[in-house]
Amino acid sequence: MVEATAPGKIILFGEHAVVYGQPAIAVPLSQVRAKAIVQAGHRQAVQLLAPDLGIDTTLEEAGPEDAIAIAVWQVQDAAGLDQLPPIVITVTSDIPIASGLGSGASITAAVIRSLADYLDLAHLASEEWVSRLTYEVEKIHHGTPSGIDNTVVAYERPVYFVRRQPHNLIETFAIASPLRLLVADTGVSSSTKTVVTDVRHSWQAEPERFERLFAGCGQIAAAARTAIESGDQREIGRLMTRNHALLVEMTVSSPELNHLVEQSMAAGALGAKLSGGGRGGNMIALVTHETQDAVQNALYQAGARSVLSNVIS
Ligand code: MEV
Repeated sequence: MVEATAPGKIILFGEHAVVYGQPAIAVPLSQVRAKAIVQAGHRQAVQLLAPDLGIDTTLEEAGPEDAIAIAVWQVQDAAGLDQLPPIVITVTSDIPIASGLGSGASITAAVIRSLADYLDLAHLASEEWVSRLTYEVEKIHHGTPSGIDNTVVAYERPVYFVRRQPHNLIETFAIASPLRLLVADTGVSSSTKTVVTDVRHSWQAEPERFERLFAGCGQIAAAARTAIESGDQREIGRLMTRNHALLVEMTVSSPELNHLVEQSMAAGALGAKLSGGGRGGNMIALVTHETQDAVQNALYQAGARSVLSNVIS
């Protein structure tokens, strides 16, 4: 039996603009994870089980859009295997789905890594290959992903990421003073694919305005890296709130997200913004040891379904 896990993720700066070549910063959210277990099967089939999602099928019977099957096919293709041995792949995850925390990429990464390990394909279980194959699956689900989600869940470290040809820029960086973040769920589920497609249509309709917004987000992400590397928490907070304002202009926020952002700021957060695809899902607030409880209470009072607290160091 082989088991692999992958973390959730938080986009700290630069979501959406990153699709258009601007820098963005993401960090793993290690306390919520997806897990895949591969074990020998008794039936002549590759069984796919995800009890929480009501999935109980086989590779042969899975539809062309089945996320777990697509991940398995990626490994099979990359390894050049005509057939897989009889196995059972079981997937569980405590990352909320459709909430901007990378649940899809994380499940895919866990399936790819566990299957590659089980098949003794060490190179395919490497961070680079898990990221690369997860990206292929993300493309099938999302159309035009930037590549940041697969990168952060496969490498499980903070990344400064720029989508570019022929290779993306992927840099890790020092966090001079730990970032204490609250991650609050609006409870509204949202499809990243739909929001990314809407932004594309808006950009096509108003290219100059949207390119200005994207460039603004890119400048904020670059400045945020410097602030994170020098431990300037006030500046990081200010940049988060400015990034949120640009995301509002991009029309990817929502009344629920804005309410949580406003209430967390009123309760003393250093900065707050939506995180991920937007229009629902999660927001993040930067707090200190002293303000954490007050901001957490304010978020619950403002309607947050859950508030995770996470220290990134
Ligand atoms: C989703 O986590 C981040 C987006 O920027 C989409 C992407 O980068 O592929 C909204």
